[in-house]
This record gives sequence, structure tokens and C-alpha cells, in this order.
Amino acid sequence: MRIVLVGPPGAGKGTQAAFLAKNLSIPHISTGDLFRANISQGTELGKQAKAYMDAGNLVPDEVTIGMAKDRMSQRDAEKGFLLDGFPRNVSQAEALDETLKAEGMKLDAVLDLEVPEDEVVKRIAGRRVCRKDSSHVFHVTYSPAKQEGVCDACGGELYQRDDDSEETVRKRLEVYHTQTEPIIDYYRNQGLLITISALGKVDEVTKRAMDALSRES
Ligand code: AP5
Ligand code: ZN
Repeated sequence: MRIVLVGPPGAGKGTQAAFLAKNLSIPHISTGDLFRANISQGTELGKQAKAYMDAGNLVPDEVTIGMAKDRMSQRDAEKGFLLDGFPRNVSQAEALDETLKAEGMKLDAVLDLEVPEDEVVKRIAGRRVCRKDSSHVFHVTYSPAKQEGVCDACGGELYQRDDDSEETVRKRLEVYHTQTEPIIDYYRNQGLLITISALGKVDEVTKRAMDALSRES
């Protein structure tokens, strides 16, 4: 399956993607995680992305689309993938369509995680991420690590993301409404959109998502 996950910052895309990708045996491709890995490795791409991310803005399409295409062309993505955080505006969605079309492929579904803004703010405020692998995500109250400040999965140090400050979160939400929300209509018009509520426990949301996806396939 080829699936896109959309939803506001802090909706739980990364958290759900980890479970869904495992259940569906497809790779989880997060452009945010790819940027953060590049930043921690000190690559040129990471240097280009950092200032945009810290300000809560989108990284320019020239950089992002190339990186996403490169990742999707890897062998493990041949049979499908779960995209998390890409596409994030209509031009990225069009570029994705063109790339897939050139290979004779198409998306199967776009899963939209709906969460009220006050809940999103709570989720982001308590989020702690692993320094070694930013796909290892915790929450100080909703899903605390067994030992405070230490990742259960790999022992790495847990920290608060630089872009999770109150001011940057406000900017990210604004960018989501103005630039990313239009892709919801774009995919609705293609008949691909599935909207589910992302409220409730993590495993309840995963079940809701799996049920919705199985109705589509
Ligand atoms: P990215 O990393 O994609 O950030 P985001 O979209 O803002 O999403 P988040 O990672 O903040 O949230 P999430 O929905 O994954 O939530 P999570 O699962 O962590 O992008 C960061 C930046 O990179 C962007 O601002 C941009 O600059 C750049 N970028 C990335 N992609 C780009 C693109 N395509 N184009 C241009 N720029 C791009 O969950 C949040 C918290 O809630 C966690 O603590 C978690 O434990 C908790 N939680 C999750 N589910 C539940 C639940 N059901 N109940 C209670 N708590 C929960
Ligand atoms: Zn870890």
C-alpha cells in the first residue's frame, strides 16, 4: 500500500505511523525525521533545513521534494510506503503524483488525523524525543519513559525538540492551516481522503486507522 498521513503538528502522525507501518509491513518515511537525522549528522542538507525548521516554516520544495523522492526510490519502498509529513503543500502533492505516475503507480489512501487544537498543544508541550533516533517519541504524561529522560527503545537521551517552543508551535499551526490544509481538498477531490479522529489512546487510534484502511483496500 502507498499511504499518506496528514494532520496538524502534534496530531500523532509519527506515533501512529510507527505502528501502522509495522502492521502493514511497509517503511515509515517521515520527512521531519529525515531532516532531523541530517541535522544531527551535520550534513549540508541538514544545515539548509535547520533555520526553516527552527522558525516553524516549511523547508523549500527544491530541497524537500528531492530528499523525499530519493528515499522513496530505495529498495524497501518498492512495494509501498507510509509517508508522514510529506506532501505538505499542493506543489509537493503534485510532484508526488507525477513521480508515482511516471512509475505507473498511485496512492491508495490519504489518512487525515483530526485533533482539536487545544489537544495538539498539550501533546506537543509534553513531547520528548530521543536524541539518537527521533522516531522514538514519548510524552511526559500520556506515554512516559520508564526512566525519566532515557529512551526505552535505545537508551538515548530524551529532549524537547527545538521547534516545540510555544512561539514556534504557533507558527507551525499557522503554516499547517495556510499551506498544508489545502492538500486535504486536493486528495478529497481524488477520492483518496479518509478522515478519522485521533483522540483517545494510541492503540485505539491505531485500531481506528487500520479499520478505516482495510475498508478502503
Ligand atoms: P515534522 O517532524 O513532520 O513535524 P510536524 O508535522 O509538526 O509533526 P510533529 O512531529 O510535531 O507531530 P506528530 O503528528 O508526528 O506527533 P507525534 O506522533 O510526535 O516536521 C518538522 C519540521 O520539518 C516542519 O515544521 C518543517 O520545517 C520541516 N518539514 C518536514 N516535512 C516537510 C515537508 N514535507 N516540507 C517542508 N518542510 C518540512 O505525537 C505528539 C506527542 O503526542 C508525542 O509526545 C506523543 O507521545 C503524544 N501522542 C501521540 N498520540 C497520542 C494519543 N493518542 N494520546 C495521547 N498522546 C499522544
Ligand atoms: Zn531511542
